[in-house]
Amino acid sequence: MLRALEQIRRMRGGAVSPDALRRRLLYVVKFQNNPQHTRVLVNELLGTRLAARLGLPTVPVEIVAVSEELIRLTPELAIELPRARIPCQPGLQFGSRSPGDPRRLTLHDFLPDEQLRAVENVHAFAGILVFDKWTCNTNGRQTVFFSKGNRTAEQGAVRYETRMIDQGFCFNAGEWNFPDAPLRGLYARNRVCEGVTGMESFAPWLERLEKQASERVLDEASREIPAGVVCRRLRRAAAAPGTIAPPATARAGPDSGGQEMQSPAISKLDVNHE
Ligand SMILES: Nc1ncnc2c1ncn2[C@@H]1O[C@H](COP(=O)(O)OP(=O)(O)OP(=O)(O)O)[C@@H](O)[C@H]1O
Ligand SMILES: [Mg+2]
Repeated sequence: MLRALEQIRRMRGGAVSPDALRRRLLYVVKFQNNPQHTRVLVNELLGTRLAARLGLPTVPVEIVAVSEELIRLTPELAIELPRARIPCQPGLQFGSRSPGDPRRLTLHDFLPDEQLRAVENVHAFAGILVFDKWTCNTNGRQTVFFSKGNRTAEQGAVRYETRMIDQGFCFNAGEWNFPDAPLRGLYARNRVCEGVTGMESFAPWLERLEKQASERVLDEASREIPAGVVCRRLRRAAAAPGTIAPPATARAGPDSGGQEMQSPAISKLDVNHE
């Protein structure tokens, strides 16, 4: 487990403070009282670790402890409602490590179609499609891209790599069921599927899934999540899709009074190993 030391910035907007650049590890943290559901934290941790087992390019993910004191001293650690700010909930949260040092690495949420051709591991999009269908990801596939250093003219065009992020809507987000929704969870740009010529393009990934996703592996992965009861439900649901009705728990976190929450409680935190 990691312990958060300092908030660097909210995601989307704002700059990384110079202080952040001296630190070692940067994690993007989703809080338990995020506006989507507490369960997206479980989905993130379990989903990302399962995707990694299939050999998909993910980022390291960890449980991050955020203290009450840090939240009290950091007004930015809050969920913004239309007319209110609700402080992030202290305790164990989900953290997803940034693929590199922000001084040397520019991250992109999207690339223009032309540059998608320069993504070295673009073949992984076929694999993540298999994964997203298997886990019933009901959100559009999200990734980050980064370039592998500035190339000179002699070295040729800039090459990119991608990392799969945001597994929060796997297992149908907070619902933990498996609706039949074939078009949900796809990546927005078809260009990433240029190399897909038919079902045979998915064969290596399907084979990995059959070999890797044994009950033992699912069991091990789900035991890494603190809320044991919650995970047993999820494991049973994964073993027999559609058989587990979602429990009648309310959306997690402080009651939003029916208002729509606007921005996710995601912040980049500096962390130390405990
Ligand atoms: N591991 C990571 N490394 C670097 N940046 C990240 C990482 N995880 C998330 N981000 C950045 O934070 C943004 C929001 O993360 P994410 O998509 O997981 O949260 P979200 O709650 O689904 O937000 P949204 O609804 O805006 O997609 C991403 O678009 C990306 O720019
Ligand atoms: Mg997202």
